[in-house]
Amino acid sequence: MSDAPMLQLDTRYVSDPALGEHALNESELAALAAQVGEILAQITAERGQGRHRFRELPHERPELDAIKRVAADYRDTTDDMIVLGIGGSALGNIALQTALNGPTYNLLPADQRRGPRLFVMDNVDPVLVESVLSYVGQNWGRTLVNVISKSGETAETSAQFLIVRDRLIRALGPEKARDRIVVTTDASAGTMRAIVEREGYRSLCVPEGVGGRFSVLSAVGLLSAAMCGIDIDALLDGAASMDPLVSKPEPQDNPAALLAMIYHLYDQRGKNMHVMMPYSQQLRDLADWYRQLYAESLGKIRPSDGTCVGPTPIKALGATDQHSQVQLYREGPNNKVFTFLEVERFACDVPIPRAFEGTEAMAYLGRSDRSTLGGLLNAEKRATELAMLASRRPSLTVLFPEISERTVGQFLYLFEAMIPIMGKLSGIDPYNQPAVELGKKLTFHFMGRAGYEQMPGELAGP
Ligand code: PA5
Repeated sequence: MSDAPMLQLDTRYVSDPALGEHALNESELAALAAQVGEILAQITAERGQGRHRFRELPHERPELDAIKRVAADYRDTTDDMIVLGIGGSALGNIALQTALNGPTYNLLPADQRRGPRLFVMDNVDPVLVESVLSYVGQNWGRTLVNVISKSGETAETSAQFLIVRDRLIRALGPEKARDRIVVTTDASAGTMRAIVEREGYRSLCVPEGVGGRFSVLSAVGLLSAAMCGIDIDALLDGAASMDPLVSKPEPQDNPAALLAMIYHLYDQRGKNMHVMMPYSQQLRDLADWYRQLYAESLGKIRPSDGTCVGPTPIKALGATDQHSQVQLYREGPNNKVFTFLEVERFACDVPIPRAFEGTEAMAYLGRSDRSTLGGLLNAEKRATELAMLASRRPSLTVLFPEISERTVGQFLYLFEAMIPIMGKLSGIDPYNQPAVELGKKLTFHFMGRAGYEQMPGELAGP
């Protein structure tokens, strides 16, 4: 058996008797397991028919050589990389970077970084954009711009592209400017693909059948990761190593199915606030990635009966939010289920010095066998989990033995694989996002796009 690090799931605090009526009991889990067993069989069959394409990414690894070639071609000539994208075309890149290159990566000198500085501009706030562009603008010749848009029509990304292209051309001239742009978009359809063909930009593809929020393990997430020295093979290996587990036909043995059952049962019971709380600064943006995946996939009108469904995902950060949210979490409405992310071995740890022996309120921190910041952080996680239990608030933990490409890949794949199970339990399609469209059309209307002069039909009235 391989002893490679593997995520562990600890679900004891969803069934602990101390939760009283807030505990899940064996019989309701068993009843749902029968239904989820059928769902798992359906998903396996549908995979065989080419559905759930994101599940194949760690195995098929589309364009992996091309991604590595682009990274190899640019790494030595790039000090700064800017990703232009939003939603599923940005959150995975940010999560990988924070998890695997740490919080101060961009501040490090070049010889201590694994690649260029990375700026993922997932907003059109003018102050954000101008500050990043003025910073890299001192050195456009050593800046790589990766425009990521599956549709090629997203207003935020298109606006940024127009601005950045213009600055590049002014600084470098049209030929050299072209060389500093790589576009990741649909292989054949959409405005960006047409522009790639017309302008001759280097490009990569968002794989067919893979939606934005499920695309982190494709060229969408992998190019910036590879540029910044993240081992993308190990990331994909990690994701692939989760596949056999989340393909197990028995729901109780399948971590994706188990998570889906727990979240679904609590949602049905009115615990529809689903908090993910990493006790790790590095994992903070994985909770952000999860929030979009969960919200955009599961918050829907169920076609069969018109009911609005979908738990609300919430991100929090331990220990920081103990001093911000935990008062509410313990004494506010008992409508939440908590998912803690815990790290067993931090990449480094910081000992807490022993001092002020006569002052117990200070001295204990440096005296125990856990006298490190990692020890303190994990003690705080344990304390919060038990404090939640005391208030009869259910929680579970995803345990990272370490934070590495492998375990991050496992995490991404685990939560992605859970989504279609939850989608089927709720009777909705997790792969569409129809409610986002009206806002997009209204933006086109307010920005004067031809064809959108009238208020969209939904608002125009009879
Ligand atoms: O997950 C999704 O599908 C969305 O969040 C998209 O990623 C987001 O709207 C950006 O779309 P696009 O990549 O087409 O620019």
